Amino acid sequence: MIQDSMFNETAPLQRAQELREIIRKHDYLYYVEAQPEISDREYDALLQELITIEQQHPELITSDSPTHRVGGEPLKVFSNIRHEIQMLSLANTYTREEIQDFDRRVREGLEDETHSVVAELKYDGVAISLRYENEVFTIGATRGDGITGDDITNNVRTIRTIPLKVTPIEINGVKLQNFEVRGEVYMLKDDFLAINSDREERGEKLYANPRNLTAGTLKQLDSREVAKRPLSIVCYYLYTEDVKLTSHLENLKLLRKMGFPVSKETTECKTLDEVFSFIDKWESNRESLPFFIDGIVLKVNSMRQQDMLGAIARSPKWAIAYKYEAAKAKTLLKSISFQVGRTGVVTPVAELDPVLLAGSTVSRATLHNSDYITKLDIRVEDTVIVEKGGDVIPKISGYIPELRNESSLPFIFPTQCPCPHHSELHRPDGEANYYCNHAECPWQIRRKITHFASRDAMDIEGLGEKVVEQLVELKLLGTIADIYDLKSHRETLLALERWGERSVDNLLAAIEKSKQQPFSRVLYSIGIRFVGEGGAKILAKSFLTIDLLKEATIEELIAVPEIGGRIAASVVDFFHDESELNIVKRLQLAGLQFELSENERASISKVFEGNTFVITGELETMSRKEAGEQVEQRGGKVSGSVSKKTSYVVVGANPGSKFDKAQQLGVTILNETEFIDLLNR
Ligand code: IVH
Repeated sequence: MIQDSMFNETAPLQRAQELREIIRKHDYLYYVEAQPEISDREYDALLQELITIEQQHPELITSDSPTHRVGGEPLKVFSNIRHEIQMLSLANTYTREEIQDFDRRVREGLEDETHSVVAELKYDGVAISLRYENEVFTIGATRGDGITGDDITNNVRTIRTIPLKVTPIEINGVKLQNFEVRGEVYMLKDDFLAINSDREERGEKLYANPRNLTAGTLKQLDSREVAKRPLSIVCYYLYTEDVKLTSHLENLKLLRKMGFPVSKETTECKTLDEVFSFIDKWESNRESLPFFIDGIVLKVNSMRQQDMLGAIARSPKWAIAYKYEAAKAKTLLKSISFQVGRTGVVTPVAELDPVLLAGSTVSRATLHNSDYITKLDIRVEDTVIVEKGGDVIPKISGYIPELRNESSLPFIFPTQCPCPHHSELHRPDGEANYYCNHAECPWQIRRKITHFASRDAMDIEGLGEKVVEQLVELKLLGTIADIYDLKSHRETLLALERWGERSVDNLLAAIEKSKQQPFSRVLYSIGIRFVGEGGAKILAKSFLTIDLLKEATIEELIAVPEIGGRIAASVVDFFHDESELNIVKRLQLAGLQFELSENERASISKVFEGNTFVITGELETMSRKEAGEQVEQRGGKVSGSVSKKTSYVVVGANPGSKFDKAQQLGVTILNETEFIDLLNR
């Protein structure tokens, strides 16, 4: 009987094994079944207990331990993996005739034996292969060219729905222990949207679609970054020599029993009509799925028949993909409007005659930027084509020339902001976007204030988008600094519709409370272009006070690890802007934190106390001297030679004998990324 208790006297080895079993079970219930049986707290306690055991007894760590899910040290490059059996791809079809042709070829190949096909959804993601030895996950690889792929084992481990050790199964009394599974890694639409809206908030570039983001994530060298991204997997292939496999449907059942996520929508079809109705069903319902599909896949069910059919070139003859077209619709482009973001970026938006597209009504679509409109030569009053493919946001992909009004003129991007101030728009060199720089642009104001009050920023509960809009309209808010004057407008607020004594007081209390937010949050919240949460933390630690930051030159800013030219220039611009300086001054007077607190300073200055660093080789982002200064600022010592007493040796490119010496003496060696991580901890 397995015990969940934290207070356990059993030997560490046995307890570690028990904990892994328990955690594995709850991972499955939580991530695959979406039916957790214990609270997050209880789960964390179990995981923590296991982490502690593994820390105290590193010899007990196993490669399938759930503690490996959080990612490990970054790699320099991926190594190559040769696939044990080639990773085939599928031939694509686009019409029913082509499906009929496929069916005919299969019949011929099977000499008219009866057969059935399995119809599956074609997930729009990235194919990967997973190898298991003795029931334990050993290698994860990308498809690559089908013969060799990248070894992305560390990244794959972080995907929580992939069992690191499977539930043991037997087929006719034989254990299935060594096998390969293939599947598609993808991202749920909602997870993708949440990541993008976060980026939008921060004024960062948006990802185009979940597939690209998934592919990019799997190619990250730092698996800790992968662990932060919500990746999912669906498995659709099993290969083994341990037992005899009979059919694809049976394989899917085995996969499910072992704990792999398998698609629920898979259907066996005995006739072509059944195949066509599967295609039709998902063509019209695909919008309701929580993930993207780009078609369906048909596979001959029997493994014996699959072998009879074989493969040509890179595709099997027993399977085929049918690709859906991107959903398209024609509609009138009534006008082009403009949205101004928090940072002043002006985005053109197509205002359309509402049209039904893949299950939802579309009346607006992004036109990205001025270059996009020029490239497609889209004009107001054109009949345009709206598309919804693997991208979440509908886009305009062209116009219908025959329906163009003869008198129409090419679209000219405005030179002024659509806001009441009509300020000149400008386009920085090398950027596709135009910006409005007016500090009082009401669009920017709304976005800026909403950002300032948002959860990751000053976290002022009750000051969401709708309330901000109302208060900006009433001229109670014009800048973020006005938030702290709201308390003198209590009566006006009370008189507003839908506001009562309680809601007003709650809001004012939340505003007061926000004054305690640390300096780094304040820096992030005031909305310096390109300064995200991470950048703000680094700036706060490096400059300690807003006054020192204000005076920093571009060179000084760039000298800080991880601060690049773009951020540096933006910080300098910000503190040269009179109206921004004025806002900062008012926030200072209101009592916000514009310095690192004593506690924070003490913890920075002491982090390296008692530690000696040796820096060798060429670093990429800073000179050795700058690296040394960073160490000293944190209370550490820098030495020129390695001894047993050296705490860390930081190694750049072409290191000298110090590197060898460090290895001989077993001193901890840090590469540049690890060093920077340590600085920013
Ligand atoms: S079967 C030989 N099944 O589509 C078997 N592939 O165009 C090959 N895909 O490389 C794969 N959903 O990345 C299969 N249910 C599914 C799939 C699927 C998505 C992807 C996979 C494959 C590509 C082929």
